[in-house]
Amino acid sequence: MAPDKFILAVLVSGQGSNLQAIIDSIEKNDLSAEIALVVSNVKDTYALERAHKHGLESIFLDPKSYPDRNGYEQALVERIQSKSVNLICLAGFMRVLGNHFIETFSGRIINIHPSLLPAFPGLRVQKRALEHGARFSGCTVHYVNEEVDGGPIILQTVVPIYDNDNEASLSKRILEQEHIAYPEAIQLIIEDRLTLSGRRVLHNK
Ligand code: GAR
Repeated sequence: MAPDKFILAVLVSGQGSNLQAIIDSIEKNDLSAEIALVVSNVKDTYALERAHKHGLESIFLDPKSYPDRNGYEQALVERIQSKSVNLICLAGFMRVLGNHFIETFSGRIINIHPSLLPAFPGLRVQKRALEHGARFSGCTVHYVNEEVDGGPIILQTVVPIYDNDNEASLSKRILEQEHIAYPEAIQLIIEDRLTLSGRRVLHNK
């Protein structure tokens, strides 16, 4: 049975449109969750403003204030642990997380990525899909493991690539699908409908 309150932490670095999609789904009762904390590793992001507008606790945790990556991630771990978080959602969080963080929250971190993984991991992936001549791209929600953009795939949505697409138009169409896929994937986890089998994620009816 799903717990009464499923607690999310959302990690962001930019615009926060995926954060907004999660907030909207919660407010519409499509998602039975609560966001206990929004963390940005970048100052003054629009994502933080969105969190503030919705009365969510949010912090800018500055990587430059810590001597090294471990120190930064330990601070991140402590903030998140203090909120009894069930699931950590990376929503445009553009910082690679180290083993300590990933092991601490093993199986409880998910990410959204704007390509059909395992094609085009990394950065500027819409541009790379276009340059490669791919006819389809899309988005992937996946569990986070120590391999960058390499964890087990939860959901994917396919987006066609048109001859007149450019990076901006393709990114926009993919982002629209991200906003549907991310809350859907979170709800599957809340309802305990996913089973990991090797590196496959099976969806229970
Ligand atoms: C989204 O397209 C997300 O998939 C991507 O950053 C964008 C963030 O947009 N994430 C990655 O590329 C992670 N590898 P948002 O800040 O508006 O949600």
